[in-house]
Order: sequence, then C-alpha cells, then structure tokens
Amino acid sequence: MTCILLHNRKKYLRRVYHCGDYIYKEWFKQPWQNLTYSKLIDQIELIRRVDSTYILGHGENTKVFWIKMRIIEGQSGWECKWDSFFVKKIVNFIINHYESFYVIYHGDPALSNIIMSEENTPQYIDYDNIQKNENKIQVLKHIESKCIEAFKKKKYVKIIKDLCHAY
Ligand SMILES: Nc1ncnc2c1ncn2[C@@H]1O[C@H](COP(=O)(O)OP(=O)(O)O)[C@@H](O)[C@H]1O
Ligand SMILES: [Mg+2]
Repeated sequence: MTCILLHNRKKYLRRVYHCGDYIYKEWFKQPWQNLTYSKLIDQIELIRRVDSTYILGHGENTKVFWIKMRIIEGQSGWECKWDSFFVKKIVNFIINHYESFYVIYHGDPALSNIIMSEENTPQYIDYDNIQKNENKIQVLKHIESKCIEAFKKKKYVKIIKDLCHAY
C-alpha cells in the first residue's frame, strides 16, 4: 500500500497520509504530549457517536498512536469561494452539528476541518478536539470567535454574530 503524505505538523509531531481508500493519521509519542492511548479511545468513542462510519481502525506501537479514517470527498472549506451565503451555510452547519449531537462538540470548527461535498454539504474532519461540553453559552462564544477569525472580513462579522446569538 503506497501512502502519500498530506500533512506534516513537525511542531506537534503528527502526520496525515492518504493511503488508497482511507486516511491514516499518526501522533508521535512525546513525553510532553498529553495524548495517551486511553484518551484517544475516549475521543474515538465520541466520534463514533457523531459519525459511526468515520473511524476504520486505531492502534499504537512503540513510536505512535494511529487511526484510520474514511475519506471525506470534496473541497476544503478553506479553498471554497466565500460569500455571505457560504458564511451562513458554514456557521449554521457548526451550530446545528452541536445542537444535533449535544453535548458533543467538535471543538475545532476551523475552515480547514470542514469539507464541502459536490452537493455543497459541509462535513467535519479532524476530531482531535472533540469533547463533551454542556455549556452552550461557552460553545457558542467559541464558535463565534472561531468563525470571526476564519472569515476575517468585517462584512461577515454581523452575519456570524446574528446566527450565534439567535441560538
Ligand atoms: N477524513 C478525511 N478525508 C479527507 N481528507 C482528510 C481527512 N482527514 C484529513 N484530511 C486531509 O488532511 C489534512 C490534515 O488533516 P487534519 O486531521 O486536519 O490534521 P491537523 O490535525 O494537523 O490539522 C486536512 O486538512 C485534509 O486536507
Ligand atoms: Mg486540521
């Protein structure tokens, strides 16, 4: 099986590969890193509750913790054309996802962690920060600040705030 390196975060020592019909992600074991295998298993448990077909396998060896994932086809939210319609769609997706799977929150709703399908449906990848968070006000504030940070243009700030405050 040939794997193509997609992403190499030297600073955090994790890598993502495209291997045939799945995505493989590994985290190098570091004394300063607070990831443990049992923490990874807990995260996988939460991921399975939001998308039961996403995680295809997981494991560890002396060097790394790893997971295999289903490929989410489409274009990164980061590369899409942005307009008010797109901004609304993304913000609504993030809020609705939290509402649907409450108390589970994705935790890092960055544009690089959202893939737009050909039918223009957003879908999450990268559940590294998945968490249980019952504090809706705190999560909505986090969503608001992440979205304002992502869509830096001033004209989108009101759209984002209105959607987050309406929830
Ligand atoms: N399940 C997936 N389907 C399709 N592409 C993926 C998937 N998981 C990761 N990728 C690709 O790999 C990149 C890095 O993965 P990600 O898990 O976001 O790494 P990081 O934790 O470093 O942000 C993503 O931006 C995306 O392009
Ligand atoms: Mg990411």
